[in-house]
Amino acid sequence: MATTQASLGTQPCASRNSDVYMGVTASAPAKVILFGEHFVVYGEPAIVLAIDKRVYAKVEPRQDKRLHLHSANLNLAGYFEDGFFQVEQGSAKEAKSKFDPLKLVVENVLEIYGEDVGLDIEVDSAVPVAAGLGTSAAVAVALTAAVGSLLKVKVSKEAILRISYEAEKIVHSTPSEIDPTISTFGGALLFQTDTGFKPLDVKADVPLVIGYTGVQRSARAQVAKVQNTKKKYSGVIDHMMKAAREIVLKALDALRDGDLEALGDLMNINHALLYGLGVSDESLEWLINAARKAGALGAKLTGAGGGGCMVALAENERLEQVSEAIQRSGGSPFVTRKTDEGVRIEGS
Ligand code: MEV
Repeated sequence: MATTQASLGTQPCASRNSDVYMGVTASAPAKVILFGEHFVVYGEPAIVLAIDKRVYAKVEPRQDKRLHLHSANLNLAGYFEDGFFQVEQGSAKEAKSKFDPLKLVVENVLEIYGEDVGLDIEVDSAVPVAAGLGTSAAVAVALTAAVGSLLKVKVSKEAILRISYEAEKIVHSTPSEIDPTISTFGGALLFQTDTGFKPLDVKADVPLVIGYTGVQRSARAQVAKVQNTKKKYSGVIDHMMKAAREIVLKALDALRDGDLEALGDLMNINHALLYGLGVSDESLEWLINAARKAGALGAKLTGAGGGGCMVALAENERLEQVSEAIQRSGGSPFVTRKTDEGVRIEGS
């Protein structure tokens, strides 16, 4: 890959000496798609929020050239050395497939700065992984920043985005830039394939409860499912696409005006469309219905569906009730809000 310092918008610092490198931890926010998943694949807009739950990457220099990785959430550990991978915890196949993108991140950053150091890397997520909350991108974003900081070089946010997007290409064959972008910059974004990203100025407090079904899902399988349905019933699905666009446009007004009731209604309608596409499942329906019964203003699946997570909007005084209802229905809930803070260095 022909990446250069100039193309990545990075700058080396005046002096770098591997003898004095200290450990660094960086973090990046996970995300929630509030409106427009799946429809976004066909050119419709989507609204995405960075949430105040973060993913952490801790990097420490080693005396040798090993790249040692450990993921507490996945119970996986192992190292790359001289082109080989050695597993230490978990299945070798799984560990290699999860760590390959992180190796690419590290190699890209080291190559740009002409460094060749071994590293110990610990990754940790405050939210469930592989559940539609963008943790794979958040890890790549945090790791890019952590390695850059360890090497004492200034890596611009644009460079972090580009490097982590390369890593995402290994995780998902055709990723949109949504996840690495929201994790890098934080805040709320309107995304559409042909026009790209537009930051949204959301002043209103948007209290959310996210519920994890515990069901691992393959985003790729869900996207393929929608593709088949669209082929079979294109006339019908085209109308749903138009409705999805209208929902996003109305949601933009509701977010601007802080109209939580309208936002909740629109989430319910958006979920009905996703259900129609066939990407909900029983585990999601239980949690979504439980949240609504407990007084949520609206609830929908978030991300690819087929398991993974749902998101409910609720007034502050209802958050606990909604969380409890999700828990009682077999889900793992957590309360969250938008964060404007993208990738950041946590300290040495
Ligand atoms: C997955 O998190 C969101 C989808 O819309 C796929 C994508 O946008 O790449 C289902």
